[in-house]
Amino acid sequence: MTKPESTSAAGLRDVVASPSRICYIDGDKGILVYDGYNIHQLAQNSTFEEVVYLLWNGRLPNRSELDDLNATLVANRKLPGEVITMMKAFPRDVVPMSALRTAVSALSFYDPDRGDNSLEASRRKAVRLTAQIATIVAAIQRIRNGNEPLDPKPELSHAANFLYMMNGKEPLDVEAQAFDIALILHADHEFNASTFAARVTAGTLADMYAAITSAIGALSGPLHGGANEQVMKMLLEIGSLDKVDQYVHATLESHGKIMGIGHAVYRTEDPRATHLRRMSEEIGKRQGDTKWFDMSHRIEEIVVGEMEKKQKAIRANVDFYSASTYYMLGIPMDLYTPIFAISRISGWSAHVLEQYANNKLIRPRSEYTGHMDLKYVPIDQR
Ligand code: COA
Repeated sequence: MTKPESTSAAGLRDVVASPSRICYIDGDKGILVYDGYNIHQLAQNSTFEEVVYLLWNGRLPNRSELDDLNATLVANRKLPGEVITMMKAFPRDVVPMSALRTAVSALSFYDPDRGDNSLEASRRKAVRLTAQIATIVAAIQRIRNGNEPLDPKPELSHAANFLYMMNGKEPLDVEAQAFDIALILHADHEFNASTFAARVTAGTLADMYAAITSAIGALSGPLHGGANEQVMKMLLEIGSLDKVDQYVHATLESHGKIMGIGHAVYRTEDPRATHLRRMSEEIGKRQGDTKWFDMSHRIEEIVVGEMEKKQKAIRANVDFYSASTYYMLGIPMDLYTPIFAISRISGWSAHVLEQYANNKLIRPRSEYTGHMDLKYVPIDQR
């Protein structure tokens, strides 16, 4: 028997796995589009709730459609009491992404549409998950600090309500707005690892909760969701602006990587970084201390300059300035990846709904690298 010729692409790079209307990326030009709308337009004009509607429905909502969506999200923010009780029994030092994965999986027990996998029921589950993932992340923070989770405030936006439930005080408008933009920027990114994991699971016709639990598992890995936490650790390790040059040059000279810089798809500025850079600076100025922005900016300047000398187009990615932005918003570093999920649930669920609407089981082939034609040897003769 001969082996078939190799056709595999390592990591499925550049393999187009399926049509999708949800998100378009042009990595050479630095373009990111959510179903027709350039990310810059959405970041400047829209709200996270509008983007959620766009991702789910393929068009922006009118006023009454947006009001309806807001009302449904607000009505679904509270967690079932059983899930809070279960979360209180988690170890105090639980990794937040593991707590989130487990709590989301448990939510499926209490969903009024459990057992119903119709498209309509799946859309209702998408609303509940989008509303409740933010509540879970805030509750993780409260519970591990020995505090009772706070009830959501219906008058607050999704972004402002999350910051309120986590910090115990309502955010300033500028803070809520910055977080809202961060949610818009992270809402979808085509067939990244966690979205693809969600679609693979949905492709078996497993339910929305199974698909989203798969996605959260994929997001938890350091090659996907964790780079912004590493950026903040680096900033804290460097400590001050005057130490930046020495740290960065030493890292580059020893062929180390500066976290938050470079991207597998973008060969120019990651369009999301443009907004996060501005937000990091604005929040710093507002708080009267631009130290973290200034350090980040200097790091970026050096790395980009050094890379240009080697003719490499390496620029800041979405994680680079989200680190200092989140830090100044008072978000603990180990919540940066769960926060990614607060936003990305919108994209994940849109992809799951799209997968269900035109389903085909996702089942690639492997490139076999094992032996052929071995002769079975009885166990006592091996
Ligand atoms: N710091 C220093 N050098 C970097 C770099 C960084 N952050 N990112 C890329 N480079 C260098 C590489 O060392 C490599 O140099 P070489 O050609 O001399 O070997 C060159 O640029 C190309 O890098 P490569 O890793 O092959 O690019 P890629 O497109 O496959 O990888 C990443 C993209 C994201 C994996 C990479 O840029 C990286 O590790 N960045 C830091 C982690 C990060 O921020 N991840 C979150 C992504 S959203």
